[in-house]
Amino acid sequence: MKKGLIAVFLAALILIACPVPGMTGGTADTIMTLDEMSMEQIHVFLKGFMGDWDDLVSDQERKLPPPPIQKEYPEGAELIDLVPADEITVGDASLRKMIGQRRSRRKYTDEYLTNEELSFLLWSTQGIQKIVMRDDGRVRYHLRTVPSGGARHPFETYLLINKVEGIKPGIYRYIPVKHKLLFVRTGEGLVDEMNEICYNQKFVGNSAVVFIWATIPYRTEWRYSKVAHKDIAMEAGHICQNLYLAAESIGGGACAILGYDQASIDQFVGVDGKEEFVIYLSPAGKIEQKEK
Ligand SMILES: Cc1cc2nc3c(=O)[nH]c(=O)nc-3n(C[C@H](O)[C@H](O)[C@H](O)COP(=O)(O)O)c2cc1C
Repeated sequence: MKKGLIAVFLAALILIACPVPGMTGGTADTIMTLDEMSMEQIHVFLKGFMGDWDDLVSDQERKLPPPPIQKEYPEGAELIDLVPADEITVGDASLRKMIGQRRSRRKYTDEYLTNEELSFLLWSTQGIQKIVMRDDGRVRYHLRTVPSGGARHPFETYLLINKVEGIKPGIYRYIPVKHKLLFVRTGEGLVDEMNEICYNQKFVGNSAVVFIWATIPYRTEWRYSKVAHKDIAMEAGHICQNLYLAAESIGGGACAILGYDQASIDQFVGVDGKEEFVIYLSPAGKIEQKEK
């Protein structure tokens, strides 16, 4: 009996001292990072879940309540009005022409975007078209201007606003359910900080607005468990493509950005880097028309 207790104690000590990488309950330090993995291990992410999908039991199947479709914000917070989707008149260009001329644009003019143009870009990338409710008052599903596996829409949009008429420079969050902007913070040196985060790709800070998309993976994990993550990465591309085309159609442009420091951008927009973290970003602004 005594021997058994000693064995359990020793096993616990070993586990504390040398946690197994990726083991549930391990500390953050035990999570493997990409630089520790072989290419083959990294390919696992691109392949997605390889087991039998029927064996996965999601929190939805466990009858846990779904997470909210939008991150909460303090009651009474001041929200900035945007132009409602059905009143937007900009961006009426030929889709064929916009697809034909789409480019990654890195040279922005000093021209300000109007509130309507910003409203259009936000609606095009994450705007809600429809919310279908259940009898008990909970959301059954909702649809946006971009596709999303299972209509889970696991993203929040943060903006670094530099040049938008009537909106003071600073960091904001899009509130899609109300189609409004929530002020997050302002301060000196946000543009320089942004550029530094993007490894000194200075055109990022020279834009009128930087779209910064964070994911809350649990929104998709709740339904799809381990199938969620490849799905989330794919969805981010849809969002950014809509930004490219929408920006193009208002005489502007955008440029997808992979080159940023993860921990710094999470801190910049004020997310915890665990439940929610930045996955993609893109500056947008007006472009000299001769560039096109
Ligand atoms: C996922 C992704 C990440 C990218 N990251 C960057 C980046 O960090 N910096 C940059 O200048 N361009 C970036 N680009 C833009 C590409 O360089 C650009 O798409 C490519 O040069 C082709 O040009 P085009 O988009 O005009 O056709 C990225 C594009 C994609 C799709």
